[in-house]
Amino acid sequence: MSGRLEGRVAFITGAARGQGRAHAVRMAREGADIIAVDIAGKLPSCVPYDSATPDDLAETVRLVEATGRRILASANDVRDFDGLRRVVDDGVGALGRLDIIVANAGISVPQAWNDITPETFADVMEINVTGTWNTVMAGADRIIEGGRGGSIILISSAAGMKLQPFMVHYTTSKHAVAGMARAFAAELGKHSIRVNSVHPGPVNTPMGSGDMVAAVGRAMETNPQLAHMLTPFLPKWAAEPEEVADAVCWLASDESRNITAAQIPVDQGSTQY
Ligand SMILES: NC(=O)c1ccc[n+]([C@@H]2O[C@H](COP(=O)([O-])OP(=O)(O)OC[C@H]3O[C@@H](n4cnc5c(N)ncnc54)[C@H](O)[C@@H]3O)[C@@H](O)[C@H]2O)c1
Repeated sequence: MSGRLEGRVAFITGAARGQGRAHAVRMAREGADIIAVDIAGKLPSCVPYDSATPDDLAETVRLVEATGRRILASANDVRDFDGLRRVVDDGVGALGRLDIIVANAGISVPQAWNDITPETFADVMEINVTGTWNTVMAGADRIIEGGRGGSIILISSAAGMKLQPFMVHYTTSKHAVAGMARAFAAELGKHSIRVNSVHPGPVNTPMGSGDMVAAVGRAMETNPQLAHMLTPFLPKWAAEPEEVADAVCWLASDESRNITAAQIPVDQGSTQY
């Protein structure tokens, strides 16, 4: 049986673990070859959870190869445009084409509004916004050159549809990502390239590791009234990475062929609460 992404190539950032790994494995199972990047190293010091490692990225490679598909993985920072460009060019050289981009790398830093500094604001914006733009710009013209159209998926957040309290920088960055998706969708549409943003609620990933839960708790104490803002309608609060991958894979596939410039929540209803 052939998969829904048979013969296609996907460029995925933040692929060492969490949702990025789930997207890589899921798309490979559907027949895609993968170009994967991750910083696979120390995140900015304002990030309270554990950083991904080269071993994490190697595990993604192992899982993708176990599906029988090919993967080119490298340690790269999405803030380095030239580095991403080289990765994409090498990947297209080896795998023959590019059809799908998933701009997934991002950081999240819980801080009350008056604890955010110019440095932490810049860290979040540079990775989540400029890094996302770099990712699209490193690959979009390779998709155009292929002449078959394609799908670009930008990973925003529930914070990019509603907001996430105690994260002015993160909320700002994820709204920017949603606007970026719409703006790219307008101009890339004539090349049959669709661009959409995905807005997960809480997801069980290593973003919740280390000091993250305690850091959220400390920020929450500054204004407990806001604690219920991410309440879901459905019984469960958090999704699994593979459940977000279901939506991302659908956006990558022809089943969503008429959907572009859309914001797709995967949030158990929390953005409407
Ligand atoms: N986990 C959640 O609750 C949640 C909710 C909504 C949205 N998101 C978003 O989903 C995306 C994936 O997050 P996740 O939950 O899998 O977290 P994660 O921390 O497990 O994975 C993110 C990956 O991105 C990589 N990364 C970070 N900065 C990078 C950089 N500068 N260059 C290259 N790689 C970099 C990390 O090393 C990591 O492997 C992020 O954009 C995040 O903001 C997460």
